Amino acid sequence: MSIPTEQKAFTIQAKQGEFAIKTRPVPKPHPGHLLVKNDDYATFQQYTLTPADLAAKLPDWLTFDQGATIPIALTTGAVGLYHQEGGPQLTPPWLEGGRGKYAGTPIVVFGGSSVVGSLTIQLAKLSGFSPIVTTASLKNTKLLESFGATHVLDRNLSATALREAVVKITGGPLSIIYDAVALPETQNAAFDLLAPGGKLVLALPPNLDEEKTKDAQGRFAFQVWGPIHMPQNVEFGKPLFAKLTDLLEAGDIKALRVQLVSGGLGGIVTGLEKLRNDQVSGAKVVVRPQETA
Ligand SMILES: NC(=O)c1ccc[n+]([C@@H]2O[C@H](COP(=O)([O-])OP(=O)(O)OC[C@H]3O[C@@H](n4cnc5c(N)ncnc54)[C@H](OP(=O)(O)O)[C@@H]3O)[C@@H](O)[C@H]2O)c1
Repeated sequence: MSIPTEQKAFTIQAKQGEFAIKTRPVPKPHPGHLLVKNDDYATFQQYTLTPADLAAKLPDWLTFDQGATIPIALTTGAVGLYHQEGGPQLTPPWLEGGRGKYAGTPIVVFGGSSVVGSLTIQLAKLSGFSPIVTTASLKNTKLLESFGATHVLDRNLSATALREAVVKITGGPLSIIYDAVALPETQNAAFDLLAPGGKLVLALPPNLDEEKTKDAQGRFAFQVWGPIHMPQNVEFGKPLFAKLTDLLEAGDIKALRVQLVSGGLGGIVTGLEKLRNDQVSGAKVVVRPQETA
């Protein structure tokens, strides 16, 4: 394959500035790194670099569009449950002794149909958690059950009704909750469901009512940092990516639904607007960088 010296990239020229598609050099890989041509997957430029041991081959039957739905959601779920300091630091299911280890332990995932939530449910299933309770629009119930959720609760329930429904299912407060929505209302509802000493993993910075944190009883909420290329995540990520092809082949990790936006990198603006306007449900927005005009 001949490699061009220049490519198109989706850029921001200044803080709070306008998006623009610009030409920039194709980066050169160092030893141990791959230069990836984004045929349909990830990142806001046509060519990108990645360490070879943080990449995985897709099974033949998965498209690159489907492959693009997995990495950031998978690693954000995984770092929160298994790795980040201050979190539950559970044994990952891809390491010896991790598969099914938490059988009988309940977990709640707020926002199960978000891409982060959907992968977190799948990881919770591999870890053996049960029941796996999640919140979403009820139209996504079957989808979330296919990922491993045992109970899907309406995201529009009041905090009180939600708490009653969860406690009825789980039998009491929880030691681990993952909030992939992490708006103030979901964070507060989640925190109230934690048992003393419990951990709340948040996709966004903590934003809890002050009085809750004053009487925390050892309950702890923290923001996960999911990108696997962050220095503190790299070593954790290597065994995960080494097993990822097998996990996909076995159907243990499933790709998410794709919401394809046309226009190459120029479609990113449309995609962001769809996300902002709540027009994405149970799917990952995907653009194809090589189709940039
Ligand atoms: N910390 C990190 O490293 C990291 C990494 C990646 C993403 N994030 C953050 O994580 C959050 C999730 O990202 P994402 O890409 O996974 O989101 P997404 O897929 O774009 O989220 C859309 C989904 O959110 C669900 N949702 C919205 N409000 C909800 C609520 N109140 N209760 C339950 N579900 C609700 C919708 O569910 P229904 O359609 O079923 O109603 C929809 O399916 C974002 O804030 C993102 O910035 C953080």
